[in-house]
Amino acid sequence: MLWGGRFDEKLNSLALEFSSSYDVDKTIVIEDLMVSKVHAAMLAKVGLISPDEANQIKSGLEQIESEWNSGAWHPGSSEFEDIHSAVEARLYEIIGKPAGKLHTGRSRNDQVITGFRLWTKKAITSLLDAVRELQKTMVSVADNHTETIISGYTHVQRAQPVSLAFHLLAYVEMLNRDAKRLEFVLSETDKSPLGSGALAGSTLPLDRQYTSDNLGFSEPCRNALDAVSDRDFALDFLNAVSVGMMHLSRLSEELVLWSTSEWSFIKLADSLTTGSSLMPQKKNPDMAELIRGKMGRISGNYIALLTIMKGLPLSYNRDLQEDKEPSFDSFKTYFECLHLMTMMIASMKPDTNKFENELKGDFSLATDLADWLVLKGIPFREAHSIVGHVVKLAEDSGKKFDQLTLEEIKTVNSIFDESALECFNIKTALWRKKTFGSPNPEIVKEEISYWNSLLSQK
Ligand code: ARG
Repeated sequence: MLWGGRFDEKLNSLALEFSSSYDVDKTIVIEDLMVSKVHAAMLAKVGLISPDEANQIKSGLEQIESEWNSGAWHPGSSEFEDIHSAVEARLYEIIGKPAGKLHTGRSRNDQVITGFRLWTKKAITSLLDAVRELQKTMVSVADNHTETIISGYTHVQRAQPVSLAFHLLAYVEMLNRDAKRLEFVLSETDKSPLGSGALAGSTLPLDRQYTSDNLGFSEPCRNALDAVSDRDFALDFLNAVSVGMMHLSRLSEELVLWSTSEWSFIKLADSLTTGSSLMPQKKNPDMAELIRGKMGRISGNYIALLTIMKGLPLSYNRDLQEDKEPSFDSFKTYFECLHLMTMMIASMKPDTNKFENELKGDFSLATDLADWLVLKGIPFREAHSIVGHVVKLAEDSGKKFDQLTLEEIKTVNSIFDESALECFNIKTALWRKKTFGSPNPEIVKEEISYWNSLLSQK
């Protein structure tokens, strides 16, 4: 117990169980030990403890770390308020009296948040690697499919043909924003609260720059009151994860649709799909469905912390102990989802001719015909209406676009000539696109080179 002095009674066992965060914050035990090691080294540097005491503390903390890693020391959750109390108690058992000097000039308020920031930095680094891996996988799949035609949709109605490569590169863009968001959170998290004490710094000559540098932070937090009560970095983290997961959820939905018999555009790997206990023919896209479904807890975690923070007066309040579980859960979930998505994209088998056959003569080439008229000097609104009549003509005669003859379309408008019929050719549809950012295979190839060179530096 870290604070018994002024109390006549021990904490009620139910109250201890209710208030203990041990089961959650044991996740940051390694970070907590690191914070303590650097704090002890700093205390020795400024002369608040002797070099011998610092050494004893250091070797005690190292012993705890190896005991933790080997499983030799894993106290039960009902014994301690949190991992920090547990570590300190174990240090007493190992080195005795000098353990009592470790907490000099320190409060659990600055200790906890320093460890949590260290953990968050590490988590972001792993997530960034996983996001980059997924981007690289998508770019390499895209490279094989710049001419694999698929339908592009608006309102889930066929709109214009695009390519699978173009579609995947849309997600590469989203993932890039996800990475940028994480990088922003990393820089916000990269500040050391250690030395802020309970809320108002210390009368002792603590060297905050030393602890900040030695823990690998870019600088110390500038205001002790803010430092111990700020959880904005965790909120930003949960927000970044929410947006990233929302993207994975959208992609999951597409994989689910694409693998239906109705779409039958892709086959997902057997190893990433499941069967039905009743229906022998079933192959279900459960991983994609679960990624989509896990979005619920991810946005819930963000809202949970936002709600905890609302209305909290400065500075530390015990409510803040509820801050870590959402981050731990969101990290684990997002990390696993990124890996599973990478595996699904790398192993999926697209039916490369499926849409080319399906879209042959499809009305989704109507805009191209309108553009043809615009190039002949017809105002777009008028061109739109003329093509509307061509569509009607085809529908009335039960034909597809590419079954119409020149004579037939000339009955709608005499301006049409042989070259207009090329607009009905699905094979050349992508190549006719001229603009930067369009699915023209040549432009998409350039985008692929752009991403390859950008991602090779990541
Ligand atoms: N377990 C607590 C937390 O994670 C530690 C801080 C306790 N501080 C206090 N003043 N009771 O927030």
